[in-house]
Amino acid sequence: MEKLVIEGGKPLSGAIKIHGAKNAALPILAAAIMAEGTVTLTNVPELSDIGVMLGILRSLGCEAEQQGDTVTLNTMGIHQTHIPEHLMSQMRSSIFLMGPLLARLGRVELYQPGGCAIGERKIDLHLKGLSALGAKIEETGSKIVCTAEQLLGAEIALDFPSVGATENIMMAAVMAKGMTTIIGAAREPEIQDLQNFLNSMGANIIGAGTDTITIEGVKELAPCTYRIIPDRIVAGTVMIAAAVTKGNVTLERVNPAHLTSAIHVLKRTGVQIAIDGDIMNVSCLTRPKAVERIITSPHPAFPTDLQSQIMVLLSLADGLSIVKETVFEGRFKHVDELSRMGADIRVDLNSAFIRGVPRLYGASVEATDLRAGAALVIAGLAAQGTTIIDQIHHIDRGYDRIELMLTQLGAKIQRTTPVQTEKH
Ligand code: UD1
Repeated sequence: MEKLVIEGGKPLSGAIKIHGAKNAALPILAAAIMAEGTVTLTNVPELSDIGVMLGILRSLGCEAEQQGDTVTLNTMGIHQTHIPEHLMSQMRSSIFLMGPLLARLGRVELYQPGGCAIGERKIDLHLKGLSALGAKIEETGSKIVCTAEQLLGAEIALDFPSVGATENIMMAAVMAKGMTTIIGAAREPEIQDLQNFLNSMGANIIGAGTDTITIEGVKELAPCTYRIIPDRIVAGTVMIAAAVTKGNVTLERVNPAHLTSAIHVLKRTGVQIAIDGDIMNVSCLTRPKAVERIITSPHPAFPTDLQSQIMVLLSLADGLSIVKETVFEGRFKHVDELSRMGADIRVDLNSAFIRGVPRLYGASVEATDLRAGAALVIAGLAAQGTTIIDQIHHIDRGYDRIELMLTQLGAKIQRTTPVQTEKH
């Protein structure tokens, strides 16, 4: 099993280009199959999750190829409506194919993605939305079969602004007959990116980025070339890493408007942030200050996907901070690992009470999920001594060769293969 080995205590410095957003690319790859022909996507990150999605598209009959950050799909041969259970269990985002397959072939067979390390993660809102558009849904055990000869526009009110459900309903509604309105929609930037992509293929959608999205059904979509937005969570992760190492880092190709709440929180801790178009400079010379309370919530509030990482900064801040997680119930798995590195964190239900310590110490730790893994990397960069992180396949799902990215900024971080590990 590969591991990351980090020698901590080196301030990060230099400039780095932020790669494209995984959470925008995944639904967009799924949406692409609704057009017949060749779709070209650029700024697609080279991540294991993207590889799994391309594998699923191939299993449906699509030609899919990634070269660098460009993905080319030829969707002409798509004929398969069944997503095998082992692919569903590899990646929850396979549920994004529900809407597009229903729209293109009138049928989709898949499996409940099940829970994962960060919580139960139900798909009831996805299914309710598709059913409101006229899909017939049959569930047998964990198998789900959705069918629809013609989807029909409808007014759908979401009980919670689920990102994935909003995206699935948008995709299914694009070629439905008539008008669909999603009320209480999620407002994440990735949803705006999906809208822009679908509109580039000829869809007629307005409102993404607000809580009401309106989709006027069109007869067909045409292939296009599209550039994915930058990854705001990768950007936020690098910003926090720069801050905890008392570094000075310039992030290029970012969209600061997607990071408003994170920028606000970091500034409250005393981190200096300068913005110039799509370039951001982050530096921190002094010990960060504690923040009274951070509450994760749907966009534009503080993102749950940066909760683990900000907790590392607060672990080193001066004073007591409270972090309340309201999106996923199981998202404090990193706390035990950070505690092993010397952090002082107490968890009570969905709140973490973090008393800042002067320093963290290197330790052998385990990534339990993607963002928890990113938090451990940040902690390792700031810690005194050597940190060894196991289970880094979680990190590879969302960060393109994180060790290369950080080495570029002066970090001492290395990926070890099993053979090398044994020699140590
Ligand atoms: C997406 C992101 C993920 C991020 C999350 C919240 C992708 C690929 N993933 O996940 O990185 O952490 O948004 O910003 O874009 N829920 C239900 N029923 C449903 C759907 C969701 O109860 O049908 C609940 C979930 O269990 C969770 C909450 O709603 O507690 C938020 O989930 P959702 O917004 O759907 O997140 P994802 O789309 O899964």
